Amino acid sequence: MRRLLFALFAIPFFLAPATSQPVEARGGVVVCVSPPAAAVGAAILKDGGNAVDAAVAVAFAQAVTWPEAGNIGGGGFMMIGPPGKEPTCIDYREMAPGAATEDMLAKGEVSHYSHKVAGVPGTVRGLEKAHKKFGKLPWKQLVMPAVKLAEDGFTVNEVLAKGLNNVLASKNTTNAEFRRVYGKSERWKAGDTLKLPDLGRTLRTIAEKGPAAFYTGEPAEQLAAEMKLGGGLIIKDDLANYRAHERSPIHATYRGYDVYGPPPPSSGGIGLAQMLNILENFDLKKHDRWSPEVNHLLIEAMKRAYLDRARHLGDPSFTDIPNHLTTKEYAKKLAAGIDLKKATPSESLAPDISLAPEGDSTTHFSIIDKDGLAVSNTYTLENSYGSRVVVRGAGYILNNEMSDFNPEPGVTTKSGQIGTKPNLIEPYKRMLSSMTPVLVYKDGKPVLITGSPGGRTIINTVLCVVVNVVDFGMPVQQAVDAPRLHHQWLPDAVKFEGLKDHADLVAKLKAMGHTVTGHRQGDAHTIWIDPKTGLITGAADKRIDGKAVRVP
Ligand code: DON
Repeated sequence: MRRLLFALFAIPFFLAPATSQPVEARGGVVVCVSPPAAAVGAAILKDGGNAVDAAVAVAFAQAVTWPEAGNIGGGGFMMIGPPGKEPTCIDYREMAPGAATEDMLAKGEVSHYSHKVAGVPGTVRGLEKAHKKFGKLPWKQLVMPAVKLAEDGFTVNEVLAKGLNNVLASKNTTNAEFRRVYGKSERWKAGDTLKLPDLGRTLRTIAEKGPAAFYTGEPAEQLAAEMKLGGGLIIKDDLANYRAHERSPIHATYRGYDVYGPPPPSSGGIGLAQMLNILENFDLKKHDRWSPEVNHLLIEAMKRAYLDRARHLGDPSFTDIPNHLTTKEYAKKLAAGIDLKKATPSESLAPDISLAPEGDSTTHFSIIDKDGLAVSNTYTLENSYGSRVVVRGAGYILNNEMSDFNPEPGVTTKSGQIGTKPNLIEPYKRMLSSMTPVLVYKDGKPVLITGSPGGRTIINTVLCVVVNVVDFGMPVQQAVDAPRLHHQWLPDAVKFEGLKDHADLVAKLKAMGHTVTGHRQGDAHTIWIDPKTGLITGAADKRIDGKAVRVP
């Protein structure tokens, strides 16, 4: 009945722009932002590869077909759920180069679109690590589809054309090599072909000589040379010393489900666990999903978790992270502090700290294969098109992930900068992330694979999807398409996608003392596996032209 009500309720709001159609399958599903990359992943599954093989192939393919965030010059987190075993996490977050200093980004003098803001790329090592432990098909077979896409070219769709036109129009895009590689005499339009021969050559090196070549071979020489020319900090030793880590996920339980997310240096797993633990103290489903009761509780849980994120979270090799953050007892205490009728002012929770704003581009994909091996992967260049620097001769875009560190030691301002210790810059340290690729299990089997881009909003996007499914029983496509909510403790303001469609709710939240404004929040390419029937449903996010491809 609840599902039916949601279906009726949802239709008028979600007709425009087009609602994505979910796909159903038993042989596997790939859901990601880029249609040609989704096709690559599905082909790998059809050719006998497993979900990790497909993930490696999709990640490389998106480095070509989704240059906004797909990458070999960035980093991310991959959650892997092998059937019958505990899920694991591959941390391939970028790290600060050895020459980085605590205050190198202080005073805002270094442009966020410059060589200095690049962290040491982790993606190729991360994909190598996942493949070594879980892959079935040969490495080369997984990289070659990306080589072909780069060398032969691929058809640009409308979303990509728009993104390219935007980045080329931006005054922040000053790197000549970026403009040479992605520029065009006229505007990009859907149907154009994009060829990336230099990137194709680098990918071919990675395919034929193996992943280490990226860190110690010709591509490493090219990156070191680029850094020298552009005033960046990464040297060959930084590259040679970079390691991806396999880490134990953060494991939360929520109303009979097991939720696994990435541990630090991502804040995603802990943040999500903390919010779910707080919410478990309340019976959300006795209210409507768009009631002030439910949304007030979501907001108050968010505020408290994001405060602890600022206080405590950073690279675990450099920072002691308290164990209590994810306990039920701690969440109970936080829940008891929530006033059910009134917004708690953020500053009254801790008047001494505030947070800086973040940029916007990252991408998430979800994959499951016929044997139930599940992959949830989020990776990023940080801002859209990262630093907007292309490595000369190597053809790939560098991240600007150093801007995820707290820029100025000790300087925390109300207007949005944070200077707390756990996430200050140190040589070889990994910057704190919000990426939250998750796997949700019921009775030992994966039922939900989700994640999203969106900087600090990511953890809340994932929270919304999980609550929509678990508490409100929404079918996965509706759970993904439904309007999302965000509060990050500071600034003390709610962002909500449903201003127009839920004006009454907004008025009630305002009356409780919340400041509410609009925005667009994330794109969560998600998979649901029915625990009773095993049927797989792939839901691409309607907010962007993503693609869910099925393997029958
Ligand atoms: O790791 C992080 O949390 C950020 N660098 C992610 C940036 C992001 O999601 C931008 N996307 N829209």
